[in-house]
Amino acid sequence: MNNQATGELNHFFKTYIPPIEDYLRSYMKNIRRYPEVIYDAMEHSLFAGGKRIRPLLCLAGYLLFDNSWKKALPVASAVELIHTYSLIHDDLPAMDDDRLRRGKPTLHCAFNEHTAILAGDAMLNLAFELLSSPDTGKHISPATQVEIIHSISTASGAQGMIRGQVVDITTERESQPVDKEILEFIHHYKTGQLITTSLLNGARLTEKPTEEEYTALKEYARHLGLLFQVVDDLLDVTGTEKEMGKNTHKDSEKMIYPRLIGIEETRKLAQRLKRQAQEALRIFGDKGRILHLLCDFVERRTY
Ligand code: IPE
Ligand code: IPE
Ligand code: MG
Ligand code: MG
Ligand code: MG
Repeated sequence: MNNQATGELNHFFKTYIPPIEDYLRSYMKNIRRYPEVIYDAMEHSLFAGGKRIRPLLCLAGYLLFDNSWKKALPVASAVELIHTYSLIHDDLPAMDDDRLRRGKPTLHCAFNEHTAILAGDAMLNLAFELLSSPDTGKHISPATQVEIIHSISTASGAQGMIRGQVVDITTERESQPVDKEILEFIHHYKTGQLITTSLLNGARLTEKPTEEEYTALKEYARHLGLLFQVVDDLLDVTGTEKEMGKNTHKDSEKMIYPRLIGIEETRKLAQRLKRQAQEALRIFGDKGRILHLLCDFVERRTY
């Protein structure tokens, strides 16, 4: 990435991350009541400093078709809530059993296991409270709002993210052999589905995309989602805990890309996925610039 591209991306992050965090903060403040420990727990994980890639993709999807991006903040916040809940549960002793997340102790370590389970449950429900709220529905037809809720719930559930999590954890626990096809399946579902639904529903909120444009966005997101998890696997081997803010060298029990095909091949795969994602953006011309740059960011990220 040259200096200009880095500058554009930093400008994108600086412009859109604070409004996402402000929206989440003020929403959390408004709903806080007895017993406050559950809000303290949710906020411990939510405001620990994630990259906010999914809400940013939601806003980027919106911006492809319409400039009034603030209308997308409730949906962007909802996908970040779902993502954060998935991390809290992913880190539990019964799952990946991790102690560090977003540079802070994982929620079950900072609080306790029952609070971490309940905070995750609460955040998932909070996401759908937000998606079905009048704030989300203000500028769209009821049919579009229901479509968004349906799409995000499908992508997050047993047909989506959970599908990948189940195969990820059962293959590990039962020491089942994992080949390229199964690993791609795991990654496509556990990580790709939420990434895809974040982008598509940002676009859907404008009620403007054509079928051809949805198809292009799905093609883009499929490759970006896989790229994101391939790089996560790579960083598990090559990254540092300090920079990543989470435990690395953790996935020794689990099949990950560097173990399956080696570090060099994993890097090549990441480059190929990045190019495929970027090619899918062709029909958007210059408007696809930020989505194009986000692929560069994801491929080169070190955290
Ligand atoms: C980590 O996601 C879990 C995966 C799906 C790979 P991120 O790398 O987006 O984590 P945060 O949100 O920045 O903490
Ligand atoms: C997490 O995958 C995927 C979900 C939370 C759905 P990982 O287990 O690889 O994520 P990290 O490495 O703990 O962030
Ligand atoms: Mg996991
Ligand atoms: Mg994990
Ligand atoms: Mg990982």
